[in-house]
Amino acid sequence: MTEKYIIMDVDTGVDDSMALMLAGACKDLHILALTCTYGNNEVEKTTRNTQKIAELLGIDAPVAMGAVRPMIDPPMDFSGGLGPMIHGLDGLGNVGDRLQEPVHPVSELKAPDLMAEVIRKAPEMVTIVATGPLTNVAAFLLSWPELADKVELIALMGGAAYGGNLAFTVEANIGHDPEAAAVVFHSSIPKVVFGLDATMGVYITDEERVAMAEKSAVGAFMKDCLQPYADTYRQLANWPGAVLHDSLPVAWLIDPDTVTLKPVVIDIELNGRLNRGATVCDFNSNHTADTNTLIAMQADREKIIALHLEAAGHYQ
Ligand code: BDR
Ligand code: CA
Repeated sequence: MTEKYIIMDVDTGVDDSMALMLAGACKDLHILALTCTYGNNEVEKTTRNTQKIAELLGIDAPVAMGAVRPMIDPPMDFSGGLGPMIHGLDGLGNVGDRLQEPVHPVSELKAPDLMAEVIRKAPEMVTIVATGPLTNVAAFLLSWPELADKVELIALMGGAAYGGNLAFTVEANIGHDPEAAAVVFHSSIPKVVFGLDATMGVYITDEERVAMAEKSAVGAFMKDCLQPYADTYRQLANWPGAVLHDSLPVAWLIDPDTVTLKPVVIDIELNGRLNRGATVCDFNSNHTADTNTLIAMQADREKIIALHLEAAGHYQ
């Protein structure tokens, strides 16, 4: 693969942690910054989790705290509900306290400003990989429009052409901040969208988690971190494993053959009685030929799981 300079905007998060494991093991992905948003949990927790996971993985990049809430909608309530159920109360499958307290301080800059700083200084164009609500990315685009030309691509986990997991046809990362998503989708920066159409097929089975645990201490931690996540997907959806949504953009950067992409025009439903936050996808309009957006419609589960096992083995 060709070398890439990336910023990961995350709401760590169990599957965010798996995405970080994948990215941290790839020598051709240069992680310039980790910026954190609320989403799976409150931003103080997702930031601390990101610091802990970065230190576990030896990712030497600044970590910044970002948005505490969506742009328009009220702050989320993290005292219960699906987020803590899937990701554990601590956001790391209830095993986060096995990791040492972070040594490196959180950046003095807020997430959008750290994005701006590292993009300005980067030797090449930068790819933003976003795996949480898009509030930080939107705030960056609104605050620093002159830097958009230096962003090669936004590769994001979010949305769905069909189906949803937050509400009727609404996926969580987009549905938690539809206005931020609209800012991102209206920007001229090319986008590759990894939504539920592709991500739901990429689950890790219990047997594969055991195989991952045998690769390294990092693999063993991730296996346990994924336990409540796997249990919830089994109970609620009768799914055969824990779905690694957030790994897809990273897996695609490592190996483009892991997913099938289709050109699409996407806009965000901001009103809908049933579907505020839906990614409305048009595959057939005259505009599709000019679109700067691709959406993943399928993914190669086995290839992507193999990348995770290989990545776990990297952390000896
Ligand atoms: C997305 O929501 C979060 O719970 C996951 O981390 C992922 O980014 C899936 O809809
Ligand atoms: Ca996430």
